[in-house]
Amino acid sequence: MPFIRPAEEKDLHCIEHICRMTAGPEAKKNEEVGRKISLTYSTYYARAERETCFVLDENGTAVGYILCAPDYLKYAKEYRKNEVKQLWKIDKTQSIAACFLPFGYLPFKNKYPAHLHIDLLDEYQGQGYGSQLMSALLEKLKEMQVPGVMLIVDKNNTGAQRFYERAGFKKIISAFGGVVMAMEL
Ligand SMILES: CC(C)(COP(=O)(O)OP(=O)(O)OC[C@H]1O[C@@H](n2cnc3c(N)ncnc32)[C@H](O)[C@@H]1OP(=O)(O)O)[C@@H](O)C(=O)NCCC(=O)NCCS
Repeated sequence: MPFIRPAEEKDLHCIEHICRMTAGPEAKKNEEVGRKISLTYSTYYARAERETCFVLDENGTAVGYILCAPDYLKYAKEYRKNEVKQLWKIDKTQSIAACFLPFGYLPFKNKYPAHLHIDLLDEYQGQGYGSQLMSALLEKLKEMQVPGVMLIVDKNNTGAQRFYERAGFKKIISAFGGVVMAMEL
């Protein structure tokens, strides 16, 4: 029976795998594309923010995650220093795009200093595990007295938007193909 637990160092590869497998058909079939997407969207959190990352564990393997950076300033600095640098060695265009990624969260950093990513492998979706991961994270952020949490979701991912609304997030703004959703804690 799958259960929720804090992320550990050993989960890094599983977390990168889940990121790749939930990032669309191109990332699924092309390992190189998948690797760059994982490095862009998941590695930083699994490496540097484990206190606010939780996984869904089935037989010792992570099959879903919620990843969160609780402090925008730390995230922007360390992500650029490490993951953006690593990407530079693999693909300069992707590295430049990743360098701009933190700007998406910047306007919201005072009210909502934390941001998150959540993904479950296909066969674990729609069974309440996403809600359990979200509850674990929100409890932790409240304990840490973080004032607010936000995320950016693709405007076409209406299923995920519905999920976030059910979890208590409100839509703040839509721009450049993304929808910003946030919650005060
Ligand atoms: C989005 C995701 C994290 C939700 O987790 P989940 O375990 O599937 O969701 P749950 O079973 O906990 O559902 C919680 C609530 O959200 C709703 N919900 C979840 N996914 C939904 C969807 N695709 N469409 C509509 N409603 C949805 C459920 O109906 C449920 O509502 P209820 O409280 O009224 O019963 C998960 O489906 C997933 O990983 N999807 C693919 C990757 C993705 O889109 N990630 C988000 C990127 S921003």
